[in-house]
Amino acid sequence: MKKILFSFYLILLAIATYAQSRIVQNFNDNWQFYLGDEPQAKNLNFNTNNWRTLALPHDWSIESDFKAEFPARNDGGALPGGIAWYRKTFTVDASKKDQLFYIQFDGIYKHSEVWINGQYLGKRANGYISFQYEISKYLNFGNTPNTIAVRVDNSQQPDSRWYTGSGIYRNVYLISTNKIAVENYGTFITTPSVNGQQAKVNVATEIKNAGETKSVKVEVGVYKAGKLVEKNITSVEARSSSVTKLNQSLTINNPVLWSPEKPNLYEVITRIYDGNKQIDEVKNPLGLRSFRFDADKGFFLNEQSYTLFGVCLHHDLGALGSAMNTRALERQLQIMKDMGANAIRTAHNPPAPEVLQLCDKMGFLVMDEAFDMWKKRKNKFDYHVDFEANHKQDLEDLVKRDRNHPSVFMWSIGNEIREQFDATGTVIAKELSAIVKSIDPTRPVIAALTETEPEKNFIFQSKALDVLGFNYKYFDYDSLPKRFQGYPLLASETVSALATRGVYDLADTLRLWPASSKDKYVVGGNPDFTVTAYDNVAAYWGTTHEIAWKEVKKRPFMSGTFVWTGFDYLGEPVPYPFPARSSYYGIVDLAGFPKDVYYMYQSEWTDKPVLHVLPHWNWKAGEEVSVWAYYSQADEVELFVNGKSKGIKRKEDGDDLHVSWKVPFEAGSVKVVSRKGGKTVLEKEVKTAGSAYKIQLIADRNNIKADGKDLSFITAQIVDKDGNIVPDADHLIKFTITGKGAIVGTDNGYQADLTSLSKPERKAFKGKALAIVKSQQNEKGNIVLKAAAEGLEGASVVVKAVK
Ligand code: GAL
Repeated sequence: MKKILFSFYLILLAIATYAQSRIVQNFNDNWQFYLGDEPQAKNLNFNTNNWRTLALPHDWSIESDFKAEFPARNDGGALPGGIAWYRKTFTVDASKKDQLFYIQFDGIYKHSEVWINGQYLGKRANGYISFQYEISKYLNFGNTPNTIAVRVDNSQQPDSRWYTGSGIYRNVYLISTNKIAVENYGTFITTPSVNGQQAKVNVATEIKNAGETKSVKVEVGVYKAGKLVEKNITSVEARSSSVTKLNQSLTINNPVLWSPEKPNLYEVITRIYDGNKQIDEVKNPLGLRSFRFDADKGFFLNEQSYTLFGVCLHHDLGALGSAMNTRALERQLQIMKDMGANAIRTAHNPPAPEVLQLCDKMGFLVMDEAFDMWKKRKNKFDYHVDFEANHKQDLEDLVKRDRNHPSVFMWSIGNEIREQFDATGTVIAKELSAIVKSIDPTRPVIAALTETEPEKNFIFQSKALDVLGFNYKYFDYDSLPKRFQGYPLLASETVSALATRGVYDLADTLRLWPASSKDKYVVGGNPDFTVTAYDNVAAYWGTTHEIAWKEVKKRPFMSGTFVWTGFDYLGEPVPYPFPARSSYYGIVDLAGFPKDVYYMYQSEWTDKPVLHVLPHWNWKAGEEVSVWAYYSQADEVELFVNGKSKGIKRKEDGDDLHVSWKVPFEAGSVKVVSRKGGKTVLEKEVKTAGSAYKIQLIADRNNIKADGKDLSFITAQIVDKDGNIVPDADHLIKFTITGKGAIVGTDNGYQADLTSLSKPERKAFKGKALAIVKSQQNEKGNIVLKAAAEGLEGASVVVKAVK
């Protein structure tokens, strides 16, 4: 009995101790939303009866239909901006009176203003930055409610070259701490030396004290899979009303290194003790890796030469718009990982924190990018308007927030900044680089440049960059080391090829589209606003995937590539006007279905055997069809049409990235067989599809968490009687759902589809569509998604929502 009582006492003690420590509470539920301006809504007493109740993250733009007249234009995704308000009412336990409270927003697009109980907290112009306000002194405790009101203003359009989304589109947290606590972003972990034998870890901590001066103990522990590896305990006097700084060093013997291939993570837990009582705890990731750039030899990770197989990604999540969802993001990254990508560029803005958390865990190096413009505009109402007043704080906040992520390996202070062409570029580049280095002196600063003549490139002339990124300009690569002697180089953006998944124009000559800066985008387009997927169309400033990759591949001094882009994104639908409203640049379409060139990268960037054949096999009799195959881990590929060999091909000179044949179409089958040393490695066959017969539903995951966040991505395919995908099927598929789940978006990857992406119906495009299903919080059980289309046998799939 005594023993039981004692354990009970220990549990109580633990709870009491915990209650004194930091609490980070998800603050997403039960917000009220009003689309429109309602200036009185900042006041404490305001009637929100007619407002909609919703859970954050929320993007109101994506809920709309696409329209030509929205001032964001099709560059901005042909979706609306506007002004809206969010309000949330909550109570705080009376026992917490002595705590400090903060509200943290991971991102609001944009020009947000926040009030608590009618008191103004402040304004943040930048739509991508994370920020927090201290709210302690305005709070009511006990039964008296508190109200947070947020005004979001994304009404001035056009404000972006791509789709931004609007609203409180990232997570929100309510944080409470003791009076003595680690300052926000007050931990800075560095690894002064890392090798296979030993890693030195330095943890700098800022301790905020809003109470009386007190001596506290700061314990920094390095953990691996929950087990303590090393710790350092240091006592320090936390002075009243100030921030006390502390440095603690640890040595890790026989460290397990981090890399994209083996993303081994440690965790650093910082605990503050007042006597024996824990009064704060903060966790940070730790990845032990070293890297460097070499002007002649390119990039090195953990002292091994390493090619950056990078992709640029915008922040939208396709049909979900920009509303942050961890599973949707994880799926995007997983698709990139399976292709062999090992690096991400957060084009061209601060990412959601979850991007970096996932990149740490899944293994990607991240170029964390701050700005797409400085003082000079790219759009009338873009951040250039806010740059002067905000850039310092925004950049500081970004670097402080992200500097402990092992995935982050460089800071980009800008993309194709217009100031590179005049002397103001020198001044601003110096300033920005100095801001970054004052907060993180350990990582290189880069900018993505386009001017390849040193004397004309005023950002380069600042000498404030550690690595020079060049976008496109393949034909200057060889001259760069001479022109920019001693500087490490990186192909910070490449390609800008255009394609629509599943579309094949048989004329297969290279096309630049637009062909030059003087050209109209549209000349000679397809009537359905599609672009062929034979990797032979690119914007004039770019080139095809194959050409771009070959140029980088043969020049190690370029360090690697960042392809524009991994995924299609909303907005910037070059080469077409409206109704095109999303990009053609992606290796993968907006719905997450890979275009053919995905397999070219997979064959080059991974060690797995790849064999992919294109196009589909439904043509007119006698039509001359180019058949392409991407392959790897084999010496040759043989093509068979209806069982008859059409010849063996090899990637001859080591430079080829695909093989191809021209064959007259005969209905039946096209088959490729890859062989190594005479032995078959893989076979792929595509058959001529008959008429559309039924829908097939395939869920990426049949079990999801019943947490109101998790998603199942369900592909609907239209197939003939024998299960062959019908390559031109475009039936309208209506999705319905029963059970504890909801359809939160549908898509088909077609860049000119004008049905709202939040509608539960979607025309198939080239035989495919996607439905995204979300679980409900604490609602376990079966979710059944049904798909129906006129003239087709319907289908259903069961997704289990589990604990
Ligand atoms: C680049 C720019 C990207 C995107 C791309 C399209 O110059 O950095 O943001 O606009 O062109 O090709």
